[in-house]
Amino acid sequence: MSDQTITSVSREHRSFRPSAEFKAQANLGSDAVYKRLYAESVNSPEKFWGRQATEQLIWRKPFKKVLDWKPPHAKWFVGGKLNVSENCLDRHLGTARENKAALIFEGEPGDVRTITYKQLHLHVSRLAHIFENMGVGAGDRVALYLPMIPEAVVAMLACARVGAIHTVIFGGFSAEAIKDRINDCKAKLVITADGGWRRGKVIELKANVDKAVEGTPTVQSVIVVKRCGNPVTMKEGRDIWWKDAWEGAPNSHKAKAFDSEHPLFILYTSGSTGKPKGVLHTSAGYLLGAKLTSHYVFDLKETDRYFCSADIGWITGHSYVVYGLLANGSTVFMYEGAPNQPEPDRFWQMIDRHAITILYTAPTAIRAFMRWGDNYVLRHSLASLRLLGSVGEPINPEAWMWYHKMIGKKRCPIVDTWWQTETGAIMIAPMPGVTACTPGSATKPFFGISAKVVDDQGKEVPRNTGGKLAIMKPWPSMLRTLWGDDERYKKAYWSEFAGQPGVYFTGDGARQDKDGNFWIVGRIDDVLNVSGHRIGTAEIESALVSHPAVAEAAAVGRPDELKGQALVVFVTLKSGQIATEELKEALRSHVGREIGSLAKPDSIRFAASLPKTRSGKIMRRILKEIAAGGLVKGDTTTLEDFSVVAALQAED
Ligand code: WTA
Repeated sequence: MSDQTITSVSREHRSFRPSAEFKAQANLGSDAVYKRLYAESVNSPEKFWGRQATEQLIWRKPFKKVLDWKPPHAKWFVGGKLNVSENCLDRHLGTARENKAALIFEGEPGDVRTITYKQLHLHVSRLAHIFENMGVGAGDRVALYLPMIPEAVVAMLACARVGAIHTVIFGGFSAEAIKDRINDCKAKLVITADGGWRRGKVIELKANVDKAVEGTPTVQSVIVVKRCGNPVTMKEGRDIWWKDAWEGAPNSHKAKAFDSEHPLFILYTSGSTGKPKGVLHTSAGYLLGAKLTSHYVFDLKETDRYFCSADIGWITGHSYVVYGLLANGSTVFMYEGAPNQPEPDRFWQMIDRHAITILYTAPTAIRAFMRWGDNYVLRHSLASLRLLGSVGEPINPEAWMWYHKMIGKKRCPIVDTWWQTETGAIMIAPMPGVTACTPGSATKPFFGISAKVVDDQGKEVPRNTGGKLAIMKPWPSMLRTLWGDDERYKKAYWSEFAGQPGVYFTGDGARQDKDGNFWIVGRIDDVLNVSGHRIGTAEIESALVSHPAVAEAAAVGRPDELKGQALVVFVTLKSGQIATEELKEALRSHVGREIGSLAKPDSIRFAASLPKTRSGKIMRRILKEIAAGGLVKGDTTTLEDFSVVAALQAED
């Protein structure tokens, strides 16, 4: 890694101020309040977080000390005791929310279920009893491999209720991936379903679990939800149907209180190489982060119907389908299947059908909607929507503007939220009603988050200079360690800046503009070095996607004797566009105009699709290997579709 800072080439300057109407009803209505609270939160973080923890959470035993920080290990709300599931459920009972919908579920085949807070509490209580009868309790690990169905939420909360640590494994992962994760955390119990619906077909989840648990000596029991009715094999003495376990379980459950720092869940996140990292989150700090960010960033109101399209297998599903929203007593809409089943207007149909007010989704999905065409959107009114969100990657201004006009009808603020599995909760995002939204920028840090763009020594760089995104102080929802590998935890996140063991390295490159807005330019590992300029991938990709023919783009470097690295871009076209040499030339000139000739690609390759992780992030590491003309090495288990790579290599 060189010492140079990153050259930022983006020229995006549009800015959208909140409307007077939105401002008047916003949870945080004034810039003055925001500034005062933010200043307090970073100047006296313990005072700020202590007050929030007392006000926002229900404690069984008050904490004695806000923070115990021995870098890089933090303990938040020391001495306090609480129960996370009680904070998401019991607290709403006996209030007006008791009979409010906690979950509205729509399955891919069209089946709909509504579950009130009272009913959800009952389901969770019953499952908690079942766990206890099976001998699953505090500190035990439970693996969940489920479709996006209400039982997934019930299972997570029941784990929290008895103090068991859940690890949710995304339903798209293979038997091998399930086995590795279960063995890493030594889970005792697995909860799965016979199958889940995806694009009209049954994904055979139980069959994958059967294969996985052949190689997992610690698993004693498997609970199976009947979802699709596909045939499954039940192993005597190990497997039990959810509904059979259900019979006779008591309806109420007295939850025990657990320490603030009691582990809540492990979530495996794939590093670009090597084995997945088991990110560990604990109870009080995590819940506070998820709850407070949900309230402010989504501007939650009692009447909202909120839809987050992320699977519970990702951190977004943990914090912003389950914990943050239920702790606020919100109504969460859950959808099981694919966005283009039966047709590419499924989301818009559901938004109208269920009068959804908030939509939180990812740029990769937005670009897919753009590619499918406006007509699918224009068939629906979308009049209920009042706020939109984006997460997962930098959103290119082109996609932002489409989201703003086509989905938000220019009336909904867009909250572009930057955060990570490791951060637990949103770290950088606009405050709707206060912050002006800028296409492509996640804008300003959330309360209590001291984010800075720094050089290789950890020193803040001047405005408009690219560098590494670092978090200078601990925050309540931060990861506590990597499960079973504290050394890797220290090395991966806290060792980037010599002599500063308390500074967290995000792995992302960023720039702060003159107004203090943060722009993520891509992962530091992907930064390109073109003729001596270090340029983030996101900016080049965004320039390409602003051309009307382009649907998606990925930029990577190829070793080049003359320039250090030659710039190779992979481009997928919008439907109806034809890949020609003239178009390549037009794209080169377009990038030249948008950024400057230094960023003109040396080589442009058209592709039918790009290799992505199962959560929709482009795997540039693989494209780099293809660009260099080599075979794809390293771990490809997180790839969504290997045939994409095979097709790219065949074209080579
Ligand atoms: C990227 C997802 C730009 C970033 C919650 C980060 C983003 C990684 C944004 C974490 C955003 C996520 N703008 N980049 N709004 N949101 N990223 O762990 O590179 O799946 O470090 O967490 O995604 O991905 P993860």
